[in-house]
Amino acid sequence: MCGIVGYLGKQQAAPILLEGLKRLEYRGYDSCGLAVLRKKNKIQAFKSVGRISELEKKIGNKKLIGFIGCGHTRWATHGAPTEKNAHPHSDCQGKIWLVHNGIIENYQELKNKLEKLGHKFKSQTDTEVLAHLIEEEQKKEKKLEEAVISALKKARGTFGLVVISGNEPNKMVAARQSSPLLIGVGSGEYLVASDASAIVTHTKKVVYLDDGEIGVINGDGLRILNLDNREVAKKIQEIDWNIEKVQKEGYAHFMLKEIFEQPSALENSLRGRVIEEEGLAKLGGIEGVENKLKKIDRLIIVACGTAYLAGQVGEYMLEEYAGIPTEVEYASEFRYRKPILNKKTALLCISQSGETADTLAALQEAKRKGAMTLGIVNVVGSSIARQTDAGIYNHIGPEIGVASTKAFTSQLCVLALLTLFLARQRQMSYVMGQRIAREIKQMPELTKQVLAESSKIRKLAKKYCAFEDFFFLGRKYNFPIAIEGALKLKEVSYIHAEGYGAGEMKHGPIALVGKDFVTFALAPQDSVYHKMISNIQEIKARQGPLIALTTKGNNEIKKMTRDIIYIPKTIEMLTPILSVIPLQLFAYYAALFRRCDIDKPKNLAKSVTVE
Ligand code: F6R
Repeated sequence: MCGIVGYLGKQQAAPILLEGLKRLEYRGYDSCGLAVLRKKNKIQAFKSVGRISELEKKIGNKKLIGFIGCGHTRWATHGAPTEKNAHPHSDCQGKIWLVHNGIIENYQELKNKLEKLGHKFKSQTDTEVLAHLIEEEQKKEKKLEEAVISALKKARGTFGLVVISGNEPNKMVAARQSSPLLIGVGSGEYLVASDASAIVTHTKKVVYLDDGEIGVINGDGLRILNLDNREVAKKIQEIDWNIEKVQKEGYAHFMLKEIFEQPSALENSLRGRVIEEEGLAKLGGIEGVENKLKKIDRLIIVACGTAYLAGQVGEYMLEEYAGIPTEVEYASEFRYRKPILNKKTALLCISQSGETADTLAALQEAKRKGAMTLGIVNVVGSSIARQTDAGIYNHIGPEIGVASTKAFTSQLCVLALLTLFLARQRQMSYVMGQRIAREIKQMPELTKQVLAESSKIRKLAKKYCAFEDFFFLGRKYNFPIAIEGALKLKEVSYIHAEGYGAGEMKHGPIALVGKDFVTFALAPQDSVYHKMISNIQEIKARQGPLIALTTKGNNEIKKMTRDIIYIPKTIEMLTPILSVIPLQLFAYYAALFRRCDIDKPKNLAKSVTVE
């Protein structure tokens, strides 16, 4: 995710900003930049695509002198990762410069208005509208902080923001709305950052901004205002963490952090995309091919690993609600067989990284054969994102832990949105559309409720982590989740685990069940619940230890095992988003108790760019 750092003090700002940006590198980024205020109306800015080292090369031995400045690492959302789109962004006159984390949802509307007033835009970003809005407000002779407040009142969305202005050369303004920002208080100096790791080497005294708060820093000190321009009293707090701990925001591992980030990740994936009143999904990235999508009569999903399993859930969603015949295939198989494609077939690639070699090759093969290509990708500007005809970004920020967690639930949410989009183009009624839209919107809140059960799952992992063999069983929408649960467990804890459609057990695998072979049964109360109960009985009859996952309020299952995990009720197609989270946590805690290197499992790499 993007990173922010700002400085006002007695030292040269540029080296401190560069050091802070380097400490934010772990968050992932594709471009970076900084601006330093030299004197009244003189601000120098440098930007670069790629690493901070590229930015340093660009600055070279040019004199970058000044005691106030702001810097940014960008992880592209609106607009490709180019130098023009990198932050800081400025107004028309190059007097106001700012860095921003978050998304301005009504930026297009604001941009249209500003363009009518004569503002000229240099980038494709949502952020740049803020610089022009502040410029417009400053024309009314407002102080910088007043102009920022007025501008923010017009913007809708999320922001962590640092603004400097050549009009007021001794001031820095910071603001927060749903995007973390803190102000470090040093001796005669202040540092602003989106993440404490950027500043802990300078000071451990910080003021955490809350939503709707604005920090105004100048030679006289720090004042915190609210959006009514009234002063707010804030406490200075002491950070007692080291750098590594700060980067993981207090979590022991990135995997755990990313598991717990899922409610906010899903919020980001869904933001502005669900129109509940009309029962529609608004997916800007595929609007350009909307008419072509009306005509497709077959969909092939290609992906690898966890993304492939998201595709399998997607197949069930798309066939059940959109009525489009859908196949899911390992990208590594698709590329080598002779796929039969025509103009009415669309190929959908699912990939977190957007760089997986097999998925990319499958995409290129389908393009060669004339199929329309779509993507569900997290990394903006990645190869798959660039080469597909149209697509939907996940917008969940970088996933650092090797085992994919938040990308998976986001892929499921986006597939549900795509299903809604395609189904409403076809036979789905308005009322059914509304129902699905309403349920999708609940996902961030319901995932929070699942995460609240984490200590119970930790206890179960402790009880079972010494076992060496596991089955994960599920049916219908939870069949791919059973495979994903097994994949997560083997990946991070190295325990042997296999995922099956529960109906398949009798056809062979049940031969292994016994008192040393644990079964994790996924039995939410859905259309196949009673079938799952029969399969669970078969396991019990063979003395197999059993962990069951079911819907809150189901007491029947208590007769079969004491080890039960409950998930909240939702519509069947969305249960996988909830049922997978306990499996992620179970794998994580099992690996923790077995002292495994969770964020870097042996033999695995985060992005598989070779065959
Ligand atoms: C498993 C995992 C992998 C990836 C797979 C595809 O936890 O992370 O199975 O899902 O390598 O990667 P992407 O989604 O980047 O194409």
